[in-house]
Amino acid sequence: MSKTGPDFYDDEAVFATYQRHRQRVDTANDTLEKPVILELVDPVANKRILDLGCGRAMIGKEFLQQGAASYTGVEGSKRMVEAAIQTLTGTSGHVIQQTIEAWVYPPEAFDLVLSRLALHYVADLVPVFTHIFQTLAAGGQFVFSVEHPVITSCDRGWSAETRRQDWVVDDYFSTGVRVTYWMGDIVQKYHRTVEDYFYLLQTIGFQLEHLREARPQRHHFQDLQTYERRKRIPLFLILAARKAI
Ligand SMILES: C[S@@+](CC[C@H](N)C(=O)[O-])C[C@H]1O[C@@H](n2cnc3c(N)ncnc32)[C@H](O)[C@@H]1O
Repeated sequence: MSKTGPDFYDDEAVFATYQRHRQRVDTANDTLEKPVILELVDPVANKRILDLGCGRAMIGKEFLQQGAASYTGVEGSKRMVEAAIQTLTGTSGHVIQQTIEAWVYPPEAFDLVLSRLALHYVADLVPVFTHIFQTLAAGGQFVFSVEHPVITSCDRGWSAETRRQDWVVDDYFSTGVRVTYWMGDIVQKYHRTVEDYFYLLQTIGFQLEHLREARPQRHHFQDLQTYERRKRIPLFLILAARKAI
């Protein structure tokens, strides 16, 4: 049976595989996604930060060290929450065990809402984006990354046991749930087009500021072959938007 995002990461074997995966050299998160996130977020000093699907909250620790006023992680997986608590020990940051869908968002309470690689696990983004808009102070920023729609469209022709050699993009405009085998288990993700993310932000009232696809930059990679491989297809879509003053 396929699992929701939090249930998937709560599986002991998946969690262990994910932790190992994140510790590897030149992970796509470190070489592609994180550099763009860091480029797009406003300077974090004195900012109140909300991180949806925060995982281990590593970025929270970093941002607090850079002078963020506060860091709140919302995370659905119990195992991830435990890891985040460990990461944030000795800092003022905190993490709440709750889903992105069910959490009660306080009004105008944050200057930056971040969500990294979690929103493609959420079935309906309209209420979530509405809550994010309401929880941001005027002038606040919303920056998020998702698996790129060319990746979420279709996983045909890929056995997760082997390194992917070719990618099939199919059923691109048939948006909705995708059940896929990943990290040793079966998980539900939600496919949306690039246009869907773009217009959803606009419809809610955000001003869209950046749309990025995490183009590989040689200086982020230790290994040349990994860099060359990452030039083949975009893995991530990253958007930055703002609530107007
Ligand atoms: C790929 S991990 C990314 C973790 C972290 N944001 C990072 O970039 O290092 C996705 C995280 O989102 C969490 N997640 C997925 N769907 C969620 C939901 N609906 N509510 C809360 N957390 C969710 C998962 O439990 C997992 O920790």
